[in-house]
Amino acid sequence: TSSRRFLRLTQTGAHTSKPCIRRDKHGRGRRRQWPRIPSTICCPLQIIHDISRPLDQLLSTHPVLKPNMMLCVCKHHTHRLCGRQRQAMMEYAGKVVWSLLALGLVSWAWRALAALLWRPLALTRRFAKQGVRGPAYTLFSGSLKEIRAMNTAARKMVLDVHSHDTPPKVLPHYHTWSSQYGETFLYWFGKQPRLCISNPEMAKQVLSKFVFYKKETPRPFLLSLLGKGLVLVEGLDWVRHRRVVSPAFTMDKLKAMTKQMAECTISMFDGWRDQVIHEQGQGKEIEMSIQFQELTANVICRTAFGSSYAEGMEVFLAQKDLQLLAFTTAFDIILPGRQYLPTRANLRKWRLDRTVRGKLKSIIQRRLDSNSSSYGNDLLGLMMDACRTDSGGSQGNLTLNMDEIIDECKTFFFAGHETTSHLLTWTMFLLGSNPQWQERLREEVLRECGMQVPDADMLSKLKLVWY
Ligand code: HEM
Repeated sequence: TSSRRFLRLTQTGAHTSKPCIRRDKHGRGRRRQWPRIPSTICCPLQIIHDISRPLDQLLSTHPVLKPNMMLCVCKHHTHRLCGRQRQAMMEYAGKVVWSLLALGLVSWAWRALAALLWRPLALTRRFAKQGVRGPAYTLFSGSLKEIRAMNTAARKMVLDVHSHDTPPKVLPHYHTWSSQYGETFLYWFGKQPRLCISNPEMAKQVLSKFVFYKKETPRPFLLSLLGKGLVLVEGLDWVRHRRVVSPAFTMDKLKAMTKQMAECTISMFDGWRDQVIHEQGQGKEIEMSIQFQELTANVICRTAFGSSYAEGMEVFLAQKDLQLLAFTTAFDIILPGRQYLPTRANLRKWRLDRTVRGKLKSIIQRRLDSNSSSYGNDLLGLMMDACRTDSGGSQGNLTLNMDEIIDECKTFFFAGHETTSHLLTWTMFLLGSNPQWQERLREEVLRECGMQVPDADMLSKLKLVWY
C-alpha cells in the first residue's frame, strides 16, 4: 500500500515522484506530488534521524515508528503528522500520561498508607514503650468518633448549680481518658497525634521552645475563621506578627480604649432598664450569655475598627457564621480533598470568607488612601501604623501585608469575643450563686468609683475585682 511504498522509498533515500494518495472525508482520493526527499526524517518527538541509517535499525529502536507506518518526510511537512503517525503518537503520549498518573497514584497511596496506618501504629508503639497510653487508633477517625459520642452524652448532663465539677461536662474526653490512662495520654484527632500533658513543669518546658511546640495544622474551617494570624503562625513569622501587633496592646493604648468599653456597657445597662420598665414592675428574665456576647461584639468592633464600626459589625456577623460552621464540623472526619468539593458547607464557607475578606480589604484600603499621618487609634489603625515604612524609617521585615493584616483582624475577632463573653457570663453566674462576694465587690467598686463611670485609673485600684 502507499505507506509501504513510501517506507521503501525513504529506505533508499531516492527521489520519488510517486504520489501519495490522501483521502478526504468523502473518500475521494487526491493526488499529491512528493517533492524531493530530505536527508533526515523529523519525527514528532523532535528526534532527527539520519535517513542514511538502515531503516530496519531505525524502526526497531524508535519508540513510535512501526514498520507499517507511513512516514512523512517531505520537506514542507516534516512537522505535520500523517494519520497513523498521529495515532501512534497519541498512543505513546497516552502511555506516558497513564504511566505518570499511575506513578503519582502509587506514590500518593504509599504516603497515605504511611500517614494513615504506619505512622499512627509506630507512634502508638513508641509511646507505649515509654508508658504513655491512650485510646486505640481507628483508621481515618482516630479518636474522633469516641470524642463525638462523649460530647453528645455530656451535653445531656445537668450539673448542680453549686457544683464545680465542670471537666466531665466541658471536656468529657480529657476527663475520661486522664482517669483511664493517667495524666499523660495519647489520642488521635483523625490522623493527627495529640499528647495530653497535665504536669505544669512539663508544659512549661514544652512552651518554652518553638521546636517543642508545633502548632497543629488547622482544619479548613478553622483556617478560614482565624486566617494565618498570631494563633496559627509559627517560628519567625510568629515573631514578625507579634512585633507588629504588640504596640496595639500596650497599657496606655488599652487604657485609651476603656472609655469606649464603658460606653458600650452603659448602653447595655440602659437596654436592661428599658426592658424592666416595659414589664411594669413584673420583673424580667434576661439571658446573660446573649447580652454579654452582644456587649463583647460591640466592644471588639469599636476598639478594632473605631470609625468603621458599621462595616466592622458586618464582618463580625459573617465571622460568627464561620465560627458556627467551624464548631459544628470540628470533630468531623476529614477525607482528603473534601475541602475542595462544592458541598453545602464549603459553598457557605467560601461565600462568608469572600464577604469577610472583601469588607476588611475595603476598610484597610480606604485608610491607606486617606494619606493622613496616622491610620487611627483603633486596633486596625495601630497595626497599620506599626507596618508603616514611610514615616518611621525602615521597618526591615517587620511589616505585614494586606492579607496578613486581614488575618490578624479575624484573629482578634475570634480570640477577643467568645473568651471575654464567656468569662463575663461565668462571673455573673458565680456572683449569682455566691451573694456574699457580690456584696464585697459592690462595696469596693462604690468605695473607689462612687457613682462615676470607672476609668482606667479607677480600675487599677479595684484589687478585689482583679483578684
Ligand atoms: C478572658 C479572655 C481571654 C482568654 C481567657 C484568652 C486566652 C488565651 C489563650 C489561652 C491563648 C493561648 C492560645 C495558644 O497559644 O494556643 C491566647 C492567645 C491569644 N489571644 Fe487571648 N484570651 C482572652 C482574651 C483575648 C482578647 C480580648 C484578645 C484580643 C482582642 C486576645 C487575643 C489573643 C491573641 C492574638 C492570641 C495569640 C497570641 C500569640 O500566639 O502570640 N485574647 N488567649
